[in-house]
Formats: sequence, structure tokens, C-alpha cells
Amino acid sequence: MRIAMVGCGHMGSAIVSRWLATGTVTSAHVRACTARSASANALQERFGFAAGTNLADAVVGADVVVLGFKPQVRGDIVPHLGAVLAGDRPLVISLMAGVGLDELRASLGPRLARWMPNTPVATGAGIVGQSAHGLGQGDLEVLACLADPLGVRVDVGEGQFDALTAVAGCGPAYVFAFCEALTAAGQAQGLDRAMAEQLAKQVVIGAGHLLAGSAEDASELRRRVTSKGGMTEAALAKLQQCAWAEALLDAVGAAVERGQQLAQPVEPAR
Ligand SMILES: NC(=O)c1ccc[n+]([C@@H]2O[C@H](COP(=O)([O-])OP(=O)(O)OC[C@H]3O[C@@H](n4cnc5c(N)ncnc54)[C@H](OP(=O)(O)O)[C@@H]3O)[C@@H](O)[C@H]2O)c1
Repeated sequence: MRIAMVGCGHMGSAIVSRWLATGTVTSAHVRACTARSASANALQERFGFAAGTNLADAVVGADVVVLGFKPQVRGDIVPHLGAVLAGDRPLVISLMAGVGLDELRASLGPRLARWMPNTPVATGAGIVGQSAHGLGQGDLEVLACLADPLGVRVDVGEGQFDALTAVAGCGPAYVFAFCEALTAAGQAQGLDRAMAEQLAKQVVIGAGHLLAGSAEDASELRRRVTSKGGMTEAALAKLQQCAWAEALLDAVGAAVERGQQLAQPVEPAR
């Protein structure tokens, strides 16, 4: 299977690194195209596949084309890509937040799927939200073969994509932000930075393992570590007083709103 990565930054690299590590594809079968030759060279050095700034060099002859650029630049790339692919219609997987498949079909034809991965796909413990309505069995099998090494695949309709993105695509950033805040809180209580950072990181890792390995849900696990009249209860009461759950509700809402803005048509910059 020949894969073309059109745009291969943080997300594209997370995906392709996992594919290469698991032998899902080999570097001889991947080509990438980026905006700047410096980043193409860096990809070539890091992963050993061919990379450059010429779109046609990357996509002509590919079986699968992954759209790994930002939604804001699609006006410059998608029509050009449609023209380059012309009669050749590979399976296209769009990673773009906010952008629905209907918009892309006009330029790229019907063999289209939308993925919303998150960066933990690099470890095989990610999420791939997928909308692949209308694709044939062969394409669905290719998508499954590419998604399985990345983590858990969740099939959703286009209508739920922004919600899935706001929870799962953006989710790791919320956890990292929590980890940063817990580190700062540890420092404020007198721990040195390295120690506070190590503790906060291990808390996230350990709680994640516990959650993954337990039949209980998060609420029950929280109740179990919250002794009546104890320190955890005092901390959680303060968090509740600060309306942190409501803040997260608003944050996820803001992400969905931004997804809807990104769906608005963009004009080519040049
Ligand atoms: N980051 C996440 O956690 C995440 C999660 C889910 C989905 N996504 C989606 O994944 C996509 C990529 O996000 P990202 O965070 O990986 O962005 P990124 O790190 O900024 O990477 C963007 C890539 O697109 C390339 N690019 C820009 N303009 C181009 C052009 N005209 N032709 C060819 N390539 C071009 C960039 O090349 P240069 O490096 O040379 O500029 C870079 O390789 C976005 O659509 C985003 O919505 C991201």
C-alpha cells in the first residue's frame, strides 16, 4: 500500500511513526509533501521516506492520500490536489478538524473518509474517530487496517464529529494542561520542579492504567480515593467550589464552536 502524506506535522508524524513502528507500512511505501523544504528534509531524516514540497511527487500513484494540513490552508491545497489526482482516485483520509466530507467531495471524489485522531496514536493508545459513510467494503478494510495499530476506532456520523473532536482530538491537551497545573500546585506547596513534574506525570499515567484496567467507571474510582473528612475530599470540594467541571463543559463547547467556524469556506491565499 503506497501512502501519501500531504502535510505531515505533529498529527501526521504521530500516525506515520506508529505505522512504521508496527510494520503497517514501510518507509519505501510512504511519500510526504510539506510547505517548506526544511520540514520535508527533517521528515526524510527522521523516518527515511521520500519527502519534498511538490504535491504531485507525493500523491501520483498513491493508494491512500492522507490530508494532514490545517483546515485554514485547504483553499490552497484541495483544488490543486483534485486537479493533480484527476482520473486517478485514491482513497483519501482527511484529518482536518471541522471540515466535513461534503465540501471535499467536489474536488476529491467519493472515496473519502474523515478521521479525527489524537496524538497518543503514536503509542498505539490513541483514538481514531472515523466517518466513512458510503465507502465500499475494500476501502473500509483498508481503513481498519490503518486505524487498528493506532488505538481505538470509533465510528461516528458527521453530525457528531465536532463533539468527538472536542473530547478526543483535543482531550490530550486538557490532560497535559492538568498535568502542568498539578506540577505548579506541587511547587507552590514546596516541592522542587523536577519532583513535582515527576509526581504529576506519574499520577496521570497511574490513574490512566487504573481506569483502563478497572471494571469501575471514573466516578466510582474517584469515590474510592475520597475518604470522608480526608485530604482528597478537601481538595475536591475546593475544585467544585471553583466550578472546574463547568469550566470544562464550557471549554469543550468552545472547541465545538471553533470546529463550526473552521467549517466555513476558505478562499485560497494566493
Ligand atoms: N495536533 C493534533 O492533536 C490534531 C488532532 C486531530 C486532528 N488534527 C488535524 O491534523 C491536521 C494537522 O494538524 P497538525 O497539528 O499536525 O499541524 P502541523 O503540525 O502544523 O502540520 C501541518 C503540516 O501541513 C503542512 N503544510 C502546510 N501548508 C502546506 C501546503 N501548502 N502544502 C503541503 N503541506 C502543507 C506543514 O508543512 P510545514 O511543516 O512545512 O509548514 C506541516 O507538515 C489539522 O487539519 C488538524 O485539524 C490535529
